[in-house]
Amino acid sequence: MIDLEKRRRVMARSAALGHCICNPRQPCPCDTFRTHDVCPCAGERLPDERGLEEVLLTELVENAGCASKINQRDLRLVLDGLPEITHERLLVGTNACDDAGVYRLTDDLALVQTVDVFTPGVDDPYLFGQIAAANSLSDCYAMGGTPLTALAVIGFPIDTLSHEVMRAMLRGGMETIAAAGAVVVGGHSMKDSEPKFGFAVTGTVDPRAMITNAGARPGDALVLTKPLGVGIISFARQLGRASATAMAAAGASMARLNDVAARLMVELGAHAATDVTGFGLLGHLAELTRQSGVTAQIDASRVPVFAEALEYVRAQMISGAIERNLEYAQQFVTVAEGVDPNLVHVLHDPQTSGGLLIAIAAERAEELVARLHAEGVPDAAIIGCVTEDSEGRIVVTGAGTTAATVAASAKPAPTAEPCCSQTPSQVSEPCCAEPPGEVTEPCCAQAPDLSAGTTEARAAFGAFMSAVNAPGAVDLRTRELIAIALSAASRCAPCLRLHIEKARGMGITDEEINEAVWMAISMGGAPVMMFVNELRGE
Ligand code: CO
Ligand code: CO
Ligand code: CO
Repeated sequence: MIDLEKRRRVMARSAALGHCICNPRQPCPCDTFRTHDVCPCAGERLPDERGLEEVLLTELVENAGCASKINQRDLRLVLDGLPEITHERLLVGTNACDDAGVYRLTDDLALVQTVDVFTPGVDDPYLFGQIAAANSLSDCYAMGGTPLTALAVIGFPIDTLSHEVMRAMLRGGMETIAAAGAVVVGGHSMKDSEPKFGFAVTGTVDPRAMITNAGARPGDALVLTKPLGVGIISFARQLGRASATAMAAAGASMARLNDVAARLMVELGAHAATDVTGFGLLGHLAELTRQSGVTAQIDASRVPVFAEALEYVRAQMISGAIERNLEYAQQFVTVAEGVDPNLVHVLHDPQTSGGLLIAIAAERAEELVARLHAEGVPDAAIIGCVTEDSEGRIVVTGAGTTAATVAASAKPAPTAEPCCSQTPSQVSEPCCAEPPGEVTEPCCAQAPDLSAGTTEARAAFGAFMSAVNAPGAVDLRTRELIAIALSAASRCAPCLRLHIEKARGMGITDEEINEAVWMAISMGGAPVMMFVNELRGE
């Protein structure tokens, strides 16, 4: 029932002020009122016809999952201007850049506290709740702590999404907190344009047994407990290109607790640990090596990775978050020659609820991995080692790369213009594709009568092509598909061959290419179809 009296009251006030009293950026009457006869200022809600199954959470957010984190560079710049916090009981504070804060209560008891809130990387609200909880608990586990209590923190577009969706998120979260043996004691909610969810977790640890990110030593082995690539899979989902199998595998991995890994690493006396989240494996490892003052060597071929994630990177599905992580971490990272650059992108992929990265004495690492496998952590693997004391460097090697080739190529990583030092397989990057001078080279330069034209005409034509092909509002993939359709419609065989090849190199599928060709056939009719068939017959 609409409370007309209340509506009249708030609308009169809104009209007098010139904007909605519930959203000062909207004029009164607002769009919702004019189109749906619903007055949000009077507490009326749009009827949400969408059920649980129809709401796809990742479509509601700009950055999925831990990719919504503020990047390390910006964060550091902001925090640098703030006072240092020290206290005699504060064992791990903000300076440590560790997973959780640790505050000593008594000699053998300390509080472990952490909070993590992020946007959904999966579509299912219940699963998102489970993942948000597992991710929040993970920072407590990464310190070797035992979680006790949790407070829910939730942002939700309550005016436009159904209560059922929010309830499912909360239920997933609460069940996972319970599965960890901890208790939800309360929470806080905010109206928000995008759904966000997480928990502030409090646990305990014996301060003498806590595991920070500062204790790694030369001779340690590095163990990772979950496969990488969930960020890439979420990104592919946002593009509508992730397979159902990949989504399911990534979802299950993110919802898994790091409890077993935490318990075993404490039992076996690990020296250092962190969990892999928004900054990617190499970003979090860089934090660990810097805090520990050591160099780590990672064998990229031994890092557990979702096969689909690697596949998506090969098809150029590389998020901006990966680019930002890479840009920041590369000052610490040297990649040996011969390591697959696609794999390096996966090593920078922001993970949501990723695994623990553990530094442990080499002679105990095999046992740790064997016991992880035995207790249901099947992907745990030794991925590298700590080689020497340093200011905190990382060397990435691959299968077949020896220490010698690493040493030979161990020059400082390039810091300037990372996007332009690319391999030819990465041509779809807007900043490097088709520098203005080279655009005349495509198919049209092959027309025989060009040589007959005057130098002036050729130069003018080149400039014209540059202007047409310069990056603009239409993205490069779409441009390539348009070029294919136009090539077919104008029945230019070399043009069509060239653009199809280019499109495939950019990861455009044959299905998409076919659709573009059929657009041309629908315009040009039988002659175009005959032309295309003839070309296919070659
Ligand atoms: Co963490
Ligand atoms: Co965190
Ligand atoms: Co509150």
